[in-house]
Amino acid sequence: MFAGEVEFLKGVVAMNGLPPADRAEVCFAGRSNVGKSSLINALTGRKGIARTSNTPGRTQEINYFTVGTDHYVVDVPGYGFANAPVAVVEKWQNLLKNYLSGRPTLRRVFVLIDSRHGPKKVDEEIMTLLDKAAVTFQVVMTKTDKVRKTHLEESLAVTRKVLQKHPAAYPELILTSSEKGEGISTLRAIIANID
Ligand code: GTP
Ligand code: MG
Repeated sequence: MFAGEVEFLKGVVAMNGLPPADRAEVCFAGRSNVGKSSLINALTGRKGIARTSNTPGRTQEINYFTVGTDHYVVDVPGYGFANAPVAVVEKWQNLLKNYLSGRPTLRRVFVLIDSRHGPKKVDEEIMTLLDKAAVTFQVVMTKTDKVRKTHLEESLAVTRKVLQKHPAAYPELILTSSEKGEGISTLRAIIANID
């Protein structure tokens, strides 16, 4: 996945606005502020192609990016706390759930988990939704630059234990830091191999 082949396609606010399901797609889901948009920027090598912010709830639409002509990469709103009115948040959350469970070409969901915090109840709820929809998901630990090694080991152990309960989970975790570049080439290679 190279900077030159990634383009922003569109922001979607309702299921009927999704582009034709004509190619494989992967998406990045996770709690608000976990680092979804930052990871997309790091992967594409284009800072600012996905908008990021300190304020949870920055991404409010399902944002489609094209990677060459083979894949879509999709940035979605976070779940959990967001700095926006309740009614608005509910609308995105419903859209997100419908998207995650009803998109036939969605090959893999990367569920992002903050290395400092490990999985929360909302993460497990999303994992259960993906189990029911039979959509494969893979956990990506984010912001490894912010955590000490011993604490990281603890978060990983807790996360692995949680994954054992979820049949749709891909067993391997990916450790990343968008800030330092850790895990970015690994994740690029994984996406390139999904078809
Ligand atoms: P929403 O769109 O609000 O759901 O958030 P998001 O998951 O897209 O998070 P975003 O990428 O906007 O990042 C949230 C904050 O975390 C920003 O201030 C980023 O700079 C910071 N951040 C993201 N990834 C990393 C990382 O790997 N390391 C560090 N230190 N900070 C990061
Ligand atoms: Mg975002």
